[in-house]
Amino acid sequence: MNSHFEKHILCIGAGYVGGPTMAMIAHKCPQYRVTIVDINPERIALWNSDHLPIYEPGLDEIIHSARGRNLFFSTDIEKGIQESEIIFVSVNTPTKTFGVGAGMAADLQYWEKTARQILKSAKSDKIIVEKSTLPVRTARAMERILFSENNGVHFEVLSNPEFLAEGTAIRDMESPDRVLVGSRQTEKGLKARQQLVDIYANWVPRERILTTDIWSSELSKLVANAFLAQRISSINAIAALCEKTEADVSQVARAVGMDARIGSRFLYASVGFGGSCFKKDILNLVYICRHYGLDEVADYWQSVVNINEYQKEHFVITMLNAMFNTLAGKRICLFGFAFKADTGDTRESPAIYIAQRLMEERAELVITDPEALTNAKADLKLSDGDNVRFVEDPYEAASGSHAIAIITEWRQYRELDYERIFRSMVKPAFVFDGRNIADHRRLFETGFNVYPIGKPALTHL
Ligand code: NAD
Ligand code: UGA
Repeated sequence: MNSHFEKHILCIGAGYVGGPTMAMIAHKCPQYRVTIVDINPERIALWNSDHLPIYEPGLDEIIHSARGRNLFFSTDIEKGIQESEIIFVSVNTPTKTFGVGAGMAADLQYWEKTARQILKSAKSDKIIVEKSTLPVRTARAMERILFSENNGVHFEVLSNPEFLAEGTAIRDMESPDRVLVGSRQTEKGLKARQQLVDIYANWVPRERILTTDIWSSELSKLVANAFLAQRISSINAIAALCEKTEADVSQVARAVGMDARIGSRFLYASVGFGGSCFKKDILNLVYICRHYGLDEVADYWQSVVNINEYQKEHFVITMLNAMFNTLAGKRICLFGFAFKADTGDTRESPAIYIAQRLMEERAELVITDPEALTNAKADLKLSDGDNVRFVEDPYEAASGSHAIAIITEWRQYRELDYERIFRSMVKPAFVFDGRNIADHRRLFETGFNVYPIGKPALTHL
């Protein structure tokens, strides 16, 4: 293709990862042409509109600066493949829901379809970059498909896992702790790896660009997520012990985290971790360990997920016990539905489980969230008899409720006028703070019965 661009980059999969990561490359590297394709035409139409399909602070500005200049969104996958030398693959890799490995293994059907599409459409050599999170040794499977026809085209598969977190994606990509690039240790592999390193080196300091063999790179992504999730389950397990012993989990986390060997981050006790990846990636790791006969290792990592399930149920049981062992007919207001603040994403949000459990207890629900109400409605798949309302304004949502459950740590929930809210609620009024973000002493003095995570409850009863 004749064009003035130095490189032509394609990304297959315009989701939470493909969209922002490629927008960042286009933003930082105006000398490259970056195209993002997807099989979902509605998603592509939204990326080309003023209402992007995902909410991510700072993303709008970056898209607007690059779109139409060197950043393009399209559904023409074949043309995209033909016109690019480097192809990132960022399709979804959810947990399998059927057949062998159901509920544990990664579902690689979208991945494999992409590999076959690349094979079908490519007329010249390509570098294929695994951006999706994949089981270790997936690159081998990809190579097998890509080389299944002897058509004279060479494909070099690289692993370049993404470490961004939603809500802080732009900051994470602008200044990453590290960029990881894994390759085969062959001459062609090392040359391809260098091409990818050169792209990131446009804005990431060289010492932060880590190069490894391909299997270590694939595995490191699963391990990083497993370690992060493990810290949350560790502190959540200790929170339960704090509740029994009148210790305060925030103070324990502070004391423990000041040990430089442990570190202070990711030690916030909560209602449980959510998000599209932690659970699926740990289950994938567990499945791989079982596959290799490492049952004790598999059990160890499985327990991180088990504690997380326990944590969500524990939150519901705390509510039930506090509210005189019955929630039937009581109105409960959920503050937040997103799996964390600053995103509209609700995938695997603890809010889903909690809402369903509260409905089982026949509570009436009012759900508020600044960005996630559309997703919340889709997640709950409500039928006519269900007593659930979605209300944007938190004051209106809380009015007439017996209890507020804080599920997402949105900044605005720290800053509300809780005296006004208290006046509008049914008494005795309760706050269950699943994120420990409210001023508990102040709420108590206002009149609320306050149940934090991993701290003594403050009650008037
Ligand atoms: P997503 O579901 O938001 O996006 C995936 C996109 O791929 C969808 O738009 C889908 O239509 C498209 N797609 C599927 N099959 C396709 C095909 N054959 N051709 C073209 N498009 C196709 O998923 P996501 O959250 O962006 O995650 C993508 C990958 O990145 C996953 O492996 C995930 O584990 C990993 N990851 C996600 C995050 C995150 O924060 N969400 C962070 C790091 C890594
Ligand atoms: C996580 C990782 O942080 C990213 O590095 C990784 O790229 C990504 O998964 C992925 O592979 O998808 P993300 O899920 O977007 O990112 O968000 P996190 O900030 O990690 O939060 C995950 C969950 O843990 C949220 O529900 C959050 O509220 C919860 N959490 C986090 C806690 O309960 N306590 C903490 O101390 C930290």
